[in-house]
Amino acid sequence: MPKLLLALLLAATRTTAILHTDLFNATTVNDPDIVIRKELPGVSRATTEEDLEPLLRDNLEPDLRPWKTKGRPLTKMDFLGFLHEIDTQWMEYRRHFVAIVLIRNNVMKWWAYPKARGWCTRRVKFIAEQFHGFVESRGLKFPDVVYVMNGYDKPLCERGVTNCSAPLFTFDKRWNASAYAAGLPGSAHDDVLHPVMNHPFEELIDYPWEKKIEKGFMRVGVYAAMPFNCSRVLINKVGQTKAGREVLDVGIYQNRHWKVKVKTVPPVPMELHARWKWLLNTDGQSASWRLAKLLAINSAVIKHRSDAIEYYYRSLKEGENYISFDHKDVVKVLKGLHGRDSELQAMAARNQAFAYRYLSQFSRTLYAKVSFDRYKALFSDMDEFVKEIPDDFTLEWFLNRRKELLEQQQAGG
Ligand SMILES: *[C@@H]1O[C@H](CO)[C@@H](O)[C@H](O)[C@H]1NC(C)=O
Ligand SMILES: *[C@@H]1O[C@H](CO)[C@@H](O)[C@H](O)[C@H]1NC(C)=O
Ligand SMILES: *[C@@H]1O[C@H](CO)[C@@H](O)[C@H](O)[C@H]1NC(C)=O
Ligand SMILES: *[C@@H]1O[C@H](CO)[C@@H](O)[C@H](O)[C@H]1NC(C)=O
Repeated sequence: MPKLLLALLLAATRTTAILHTDLFNATTVNDPDIVIRKELPGVSRATTEEDLEPLLRDNLEPDLRPWKTKGRPLTKMDFLGFLHEIDTQWMEYRRHFVAIVLIRNNVMKWWAYPKARGWCTRRVKFIAEQFHGFVESRGLKFPDVVYVMNGYDKPLCERGVTNCSAPLFTFDKRWNASAYAAGLPGSAHDDVLHPVMNHPFEELIDYPWEKKIEKGFMRVGVYAAMPFNCSRVLINKVGQTKAGREVLDVGIYQNRHWKVKVKTVPPVPMELHARWKWLLNTDGQSASWRLAKLLAINSAVIKHRSDAIEYYYRSLKEGENYISFDHKDVVKVLKGLHGRDSELQAMAARNQAFAYRYLSQFSRTLYAKVSFDRYKALFSDMDEFVKEIPDDFTLEWFLNRRKELLEQQQAGG
């Protein structure tokens, strides 16, 4: 790509970079060997709750378990108490990540603090646009519900610390599958995971396997909120060593971390990632939302060992969907992949089928809708409560309502 064009592309995408990684979605791909497919014979998109059931069972239900095992239904007082906690006990910077969301008669409205982070509210706004789009185009029907949405990349309901009294919808958290299986909490956080909506990637990308470059490929950005020694930086360092260069083609295309000193390289559009046989997935400050895009490509996914998850990761298995590595064993792991093509191709085919069935914008929206149905079912009085809420609600309305109800309770003895 010519340097000037690249500079323009970077400048144009800078403002929206946090919303979409447009850099990774080329609108025109000139390589005739890259095939972009909109259909996958034998696999259909998940378009009903029944279709989504395996995903709901592995992911949504574990998120709801701490709430379902509380021993009593939640009520509007729990929800109002949660908003009061956010307003009075949370650090200001944390408050600025959240929005109160009301869905009523299939219309989604939200309120956020005046000083809320623009990139968080843009994510909420984009979700509303997507939801409304599917109400229009697919006749999707959302339940009437009110909830709190966290636009940040990390969970905020840490048990024993923040003690959220109602569920918070969040994009990422950390997960310990063996603890969960043993009946212990699977996470330190009680946040319920909500699909990331602002990285649409609907199609499947194919490139002839025999033409793929047999190296571990990674192009990533490093941002201020990431640890200076996050896996992206560590793997990039390995890629500069002699042993690393034999099996890795890695680079950082944008560096906004003061403590990280690296020579940046040009970005590579997502579609062109298909030219490499092994695609590395590395976390930034939390799970890398790019994983869904890698799953849509007919290459093998090599995933950094990590407990960071998005909503669907608990349906993926090491060895079936990805090979694990870290900065210490990456060279050894990649060398061990030589000659394992049929196994890796089968893995890639499985991943494309998974991405095609479950990870489209519509299936994500449907997952969110079912999450709201089941969230609503945790409450004994959600329908009555939603009816009370004015169209032009603000946090103040909820806080006043809480006060009123507390006064009534006291007066009633
Ligand atoms: C959260 O709960 C733990 C124990 O469950 C308690 O020690 C702590 O003070 C609570 N924190 C807040 C902010 O309420
Ligand atoms: C996961 O949970 C198990 C069971 O409680 C524990 O033994 C293990 O250390 C945990 N793993 C991590 C990485 O925390
Ligand atoms: C890339 O983005 C465009 C515009 O948002 C979209 O129409 C297209 O489907 C995307 N490409 C892929 C491979 O998802
Ligand atoms: C990253 O740095 C932190 C803080 O200095 C340290 O505790 C951690 O072990 C480091 N992680 C790795 C993988 O080196």
